[in-house]
Amino acid sequence: MPTLTILPSGKTIEAEQGSRLLDAIIAAGEKIVSKCGGEAKCGACHIFVQEGRKSVSKMQREENEKLDTIVGVGSKSRLACQTLFGADNVTVELLGFDSGF
Ligand code: FES
Repeated sequence: MPTLTILPSGKTIEAEQGSRLLDAIIAAGEKIVSKCGGEAKCGACHIFVQEGRKSVSKMQREENEKLDTIVGVGSKSRLACQTLFGADNVTVELLGFDSGF
């Protein structure tokens, strides 16, 4: 079972392979906004996947198009609602007000 580590808090929880990063982040009690209900429409669940990028699900067109509209996107950017756990551990960085974004 993969683990999810969430920065900047450093909290780590176990996650189900095939489940959404968004759900695991919420289950960990972290603050993440989801205005569109996980439909890749709001972009509010934008995160950086710092480790485990090769293990998570590949980006689909809808997610890619939404990320193109968001300021501050980089090569580690994903929408947490569109990203599923693979077999490996994942570390994500949340982009709250504390992180300077
Ligand atoms: S929750 Fe809206 S894009 Fe992910």
